[in-house]
Amino acid sequence: MEQLPVTCRHLNKIYQQGHISIPALVDINLEIHQNDFVCLSGPSGSGKSTLLNLLSGLDTPTSGEIEVDGQRVDEMSRANLAEMRLHKIGFVFQAYNLIPVLSAQENVEFVMQLQGINRQERAKKSRTILKEVGLKGLENRRPGDLSGGQQQRVAVARAIVSGPSLLLADEPTANLDSQTAESLMQLLRTMNKEHGTTFLFSTHDKLVMDYSKRLVKLHDGRIKSDEAQA
Ligand SMILES: Nc1ncnc2c1ncn2[C@@H]1O[C@H](COP(=O)(O)OP(=O)(O)OP(=O)(O)O)[C@@H](O)[C@H]1O
Ligand SMILES: [Mg+2]
Repeated sequence: MEQLPVTCRHLNKIYQQGHISIPALVDINLEIHQNDFVCLSGPSGSGKSTLLNLLSGLDTPTSGEIEVDGQRVDEMSRANLAEMRLHKIGFVFQAYNLIPVLSAQENVEFVMQLQGINRQERAKKSRTILKEVGLKGLENRRPGDLSGGQQQRVAVARAIVSGPSLLLADEPTANLDSQTAESLMQLLRTMNKEHGTTFLFSTHDKLVMDYSKRLVKLHDGRIKSDEAQA
C-alpha cells in the first residue's frame, strides 16, 4: 500500500465578497496519516466544505500549503490534478455530481472506463458495490428517478468502486436514514480496515462521528480540537 498522507501547513482561505472579506479557514495545520479515519465536525459555516474543496484541488487557498501523497496540490497543474483524482482519490460532494443521462450503474462504471478497466470487470464491480450500498435492483435508474439519499449512495459507490487510497467526503450520510447511514459507515470502516483506505469526511451527525477514529472539530475556520476517538 502506498503512502498517502495529507498535510496542511498554515492554510488560509479568505473569500472576498465585494468589500467584505470572509475568513473561511484560518491557519489550519493538519496531518492525516495512512489508514486514518477522520471526521471533520463543526457548526454550519465553520469551514468543513471549504477544507475538503481545497484538499481536492477544486479550490485554491489564499495562503499556505497542501500536500497530498507528497505532492503540492495547491501548485499542481490541472492535468496532474485530474490524474491524481482518477487514480488515487475518491470524492463525494454535497452536490453529488452524478451524470443525469446515465443510469446508476453507468455512473459508477464511468470512472472505471476512464481507468481502462474492461467492460465485464466494470459491470461486475459496479453491481457488487451498488449492492453493498443498498441499491440492488435500482442499477438501471437515472439519478432523476432516485431519491436524494439514493443518489448520494450512487455517488459514494462511484467514489469507492476503484479502491482509492484516499476518500474525501462532504457529509456522505446527510440524506440517509440512520440505518442506511450506519450500514454505509460500516462499509467504509471495512474498506479502511481491509484495504487501508484513508478517509476524511465531514458530518453533523453524532452517530457518524462515533464511527471515526479521530475527530477534528472546526469553529469559525479554526481547528478547535483534534482527538482520537475511543
Ligand atoms: N464561494 C463562497 N463565497 C463566499 N463565502 C463563502 C463561499 N463558500 C463558503 N463561504 C463562507 O465560508 C465559510 C465556511 O463555509 P463552508 O461551506 O466551508 O462551511 P461548512 O462547515 O461546510 O458549513 P455546512 O455545515 O453548512 O456545510 C462560511 O462563512 C461561508 O459563508
Ligand atoms: Mg459544508
